[in-house]
Amino acid sequence: MRMIIESLRGRDLLTLQDLVPDEIMGLIRLSAELKRDKKLFSGRLSGKIIAMIFEKPSTRTRISLDVAVSELGGKPIYLRSDELQLGRGETIADTARVLSRYVDLITARVKRHLDLLELARWTDKPVVNALSDLDHPLQTLADLLTIWERFGRIKGIKIAWIGDGNNVCNSTLIGATKLGAHISIACPKGYEPDKRYLEWAEENSMASGSKIEVTYDPEEAVKDADVVMTDTFVSMGMEAERENRLRDFLPRYQVTGRLMRLAKPDAIFMHPLPAKRGEEVSPEVIDGERSVVWDQAENRLHTAKAVLLSILR
Ligand code: CP
Ligand code: NVA
Repeated sequence: MRMIIESLRGRDLLTLQDLVPDEIMGLIRLSAELKRDKKLFSGRLSGKIIAMIFEKPSTRTRISLDVAVSELGGKPIYLRSDELQLGRGETIADTARVLSRYVDLITARVKRHLDLLELARWTDKPVVNALSDLDHPLQTLADLLTIWERFGRIKGIKIAWIGDGNNVCNSTLIGATKLGAHISIACPKGYEPDKRYLEWAEENSMASGSKIEVTYDPEEAVKDADVVMTDTFVSMGMEAERENRLRDFLPRYQVTGRLMRLAKPDAIFMHPLPAKRGEEVSPEVIDGERSVVWDQAENRLHTAKAVLLSILR
């Protein structure tokens, strides 16, 4: 256990692409231990201060990080970017250098992934991505834990991603291909995942044996799938595109009971939340017996603890 905890000491977590498969599996195993024993390592972050910068709203990420830090004995400081001088034009570089003098780790939810890179460049403290327009590694860790709990393995599992090739899709692509899961993405033309992430996924798959498919056909994507995943069609910051997006996605890309029946009989439904019932998913699916969305949400807490312990100890 000690070795696992020390494996990410002092490092940033901006994308799972920066971790080797054993490090990702180490985090998942540690998360499972932390889930089994809520008191495990309590007090271990005593004296540690964690800054949590949020440029966008959050329920799960903000609260799971806050609770994780608190249960481990550290102190979280929630910082809305519009209440910092950052909101009035102080640079990220200056903010980063100042925060470095006060805190032990910085988590940040940003509009632009480049801002996260800038933050990491100017602070000597570890930076954890709490969601950017490109990536959501904390979500994918929780999702991988959920899959591992359900199936007892990740390698060889087929994930069908239906809908927008967005930040969560990008990080799922990386998590899956690092650990040898297959992934089939069905999205409308123009909504494919980021090119760079697809290239990384291809590289990962050479070592892991993952199969990657990008198609426009949801029915093809869910064939033989163990996991059917989706996310909102209108991510934060894209509200102005809402009408166009709904026209491009609906009705074809909604995960319905009919689509779920085309996957494996024991396939599960996953969604990072928040969800819009009647848009990316029908109520019968997200509230049905194959949905594991509440486990995913709970697992955000255990994986957040694992990440903090691994980086800070
Ligand atoms: N899944 C997720 O990151 O949710 P929040 O936006 O509520 O943090
Ligand atoms: N893709 C969504 C995820 C929210 C957790 C967004 O960026 O808004």
